Amino acid sequence: MEQRIGLLGCGTVGGGVIELMRRRKQRLQSLTGWEPIIARVLVRDVHKERSVSLAEDMLTNDPDVVLGDASIRIIIETIGGIEPARTFILEAIARGKHVITANKDLIALCGEEILEAADAAGVTVLYEAAVGGAIPLIRPLQESLTANAISDLKGIVNGTTNYILSKMTETGADFDEVLKEAQDLGYAESDPSSDVDGLDAARKLTILASIAFYTRVSLSDVEVTGIRKITARDIAYAHELGSVIKLLAVGTERDGALTLHVRPTLIPKSHPLAHVSGSYNALFVRGDAAGDLMFFGRGAGALPTASAVVGDAIEVLKTMRQPQNGGYAPHPRPHKPVDQERAESASHYIRLSANDQPGVFAKIAGVFGDHGVSMETVLQKRVAAHSAEIVIVTHDVHARHLRAALKQLEAHPDVTTIHCIMPVERSVNA
Ligand SMILES: NC(=O)c1ccc[n+]([C@@H]2O[C@H](COP(=O)([O-])OP(=O)(O)OC[C@H]3O[C@@H](n4cnc5c(N)ncnc54)[C@H](OP(=O)(O)O)[C@@H]3O)[C@@H](O)[C@H]2O)c1
Repeated sequence: MEQRIGLLGCGTVGGGVIELMRRRKQRLQSLTGWEPIIARVLVRDVHKERSVSLAEDMLTNDPDVVLGDASIRIIIETIGGIEPARTFILEAIARGKHVITANKDLIALCGEEILEAADAAGVTVLYEAAVGGAIPLIRPLQESLTANAISDLKGIVNGTTNYILSKMTETGADFDEVLKEAQDLGYAESDPSSDVDGLDAARKLTILASIAFYTRVSLSDVEVTGIRKITARDIAYAHELGSVIKLLAVGTERDGALTLHVRPTLIPKSHPLAHVSGSYNALFVRGDAAGDLMFFGRGAGALPTASAVVGDAIEVLKTMRQPQNGGYAPHPRPHKPVDQERAESASHYIRLSANDQPGVFAKIAGVFGDHGVSMETVLQKRVAAHSAEIVIVTHDVHARHLRAALKQLEAHPDVTTIHCIMPVERSVNA
């Protein structure tokens, strides 16, 4: 029996979804007992060339043609952004349609509203593709690992920043140069701020943390630092210290309180996350029963993302065969306070410039010592006459003590600039 599907958007992901559903036609049928048909495709411009061949009567630029079609019971949204995707999804839900979306922005900002509407309407909303592209993350956290108390999430979840940092590491080039190259190659948007300023990663962390920590986290709970200030020198120093720099999205739960941040981080080369390069994504998860797990794969692209979307479609089709459609209703979740100050002590990388005179380093070390910050490694280079660059890797230190030391150093007459401060990740088994 046919099951008609409405596809909203037919760009990179939408095109991939059509192609993959065609490739897996037989399997979809035998797995679900339905013959799924993409019946209508909503786009902005019906005359635009598409990556897949489509019968002319399938395409429309009128949302009512898709959403108002009562024979369509599943909507796949691949438009992206907040509006009109939000309105279309809410309307589909109100009309009793199941929804699959790849839209992380929408799920991060309006996920609660959408899941509550789905719950009230008794329909399913799935969004596996919203985080990590092809990598199954949502369902493993929501189902396979649900018996665990998850204490740690650490992820490389933004392909653009990972590509830029990987290229900077490989070539020794500076941020601006690599960003321009990434834009020319289409790996970075013309306005790259959502990626390079860490917002995209923060949205994905919001989604992952809400599921993993079984609570509701909002975007404003995440402390975000992007990668614009990372220079070729930081990359070179990281290399000298046996590490690489990655934009890490980190969520932890300790004693019922959460810390959530996205920031560039020094990762030792022995850590599995250090080897996640280019457009690949990865998520490290620690559960009290499962122990440490790592998920790794392609974070974007037409077919990798379609893999997750079509996986969700199969799930929906299967549940439609059951008399009771359980869906993924958002049961009330306990509120957990976000307390960034609660973060455990961590080692930090600090790069600063200071006057190159005898006794200056001892004064800087004295300031750190006064605030209980001890040093694990120090690199010192003369970069110009009378100016030295000092890189310090601290032992584990509480953020409050480090902040106090840095505040005093900022005003110190011998310190010219504090260029960069980053947390340092320990090896997995350390
Ligand atoms: N690209 C990836 O690798 C990737 C990975 C993971 C998740 N995602 C998510 O997947 C979603 C889609 O991304 P994408 O890269 O496929 O985007 P895209 O290539 O820009 O495609 C967007 C599609 O939506 C259509 N559209 C846009 N505004 C519309 C409107 N107002 N009414 C009707 N149709 C409209 C466009 O129509 P026209 O073609 O006529 O312009 C286009 O077909 C986003 O939420 C994104 O975050 C993407």
